[in-house]
Amino acid sequence: MKNLSGWCFRLAVLYALFGMVMGEVMAVSGDHSQMPVHAHINVLGWVSLALFGVFYRLWPAATVGMLPGIQFVVFNIGIVIQSIAVSLILNGNEEVAPMAGAGSGLLIVSMALFGYLVYRHARE
Ligand code: HEM
Repeated sequence: MKNLSGWCFRLAVLYALFGMVMGEVMAVSGDHSQMPVHAHINVLGWVSLALFGVFYRLWPAATVGMLPGIQFVVFNIGIVIQSIAVSLILNGNEEVAPMAGAGSGLLIVSMALFGYLVYRHARE
């Protein structure tokens, strides 16, 4: 994927802004019920994506081929699905638990792909 590192940072900043505004709304309203969603959007969306971006910039050989793009896309789909599902669960919709599981599964698959790329390229 072309300029994968740049794409990681472009999306990471959007997650950071969304997560921070969410935190601000939580703080002002005093309603912290969605705190796990805020925490995951910030830590997965902002921190993890930015770290992916650093890695892909430091080891550009790791961005060659389809796999890194798949890793990036699957991770983002995972964040969105997991965040929506966890938010719904916290609002009392327990029946969407399998959706949260699917989102988490995508995140784990993506991190496993990232791990493969790290072990393949980080020694270069
Ligand atoms: C404008 C910026 C932010 C605001 C206003 C904000 C606000 C908050 C609030 C009100 C809570 C709930 C605390 C509680 O209920 O005990 C919280 C929790 C949390 N926030 Fe943020 N936050 C911000 C940015 C961030 C960022 C950038 C990250 C991570 C990179 C982050 C990660 C977390 C985590 C992990 C928790 C859960 C802490 C725990 O388990 O006790 N937040 N935040």
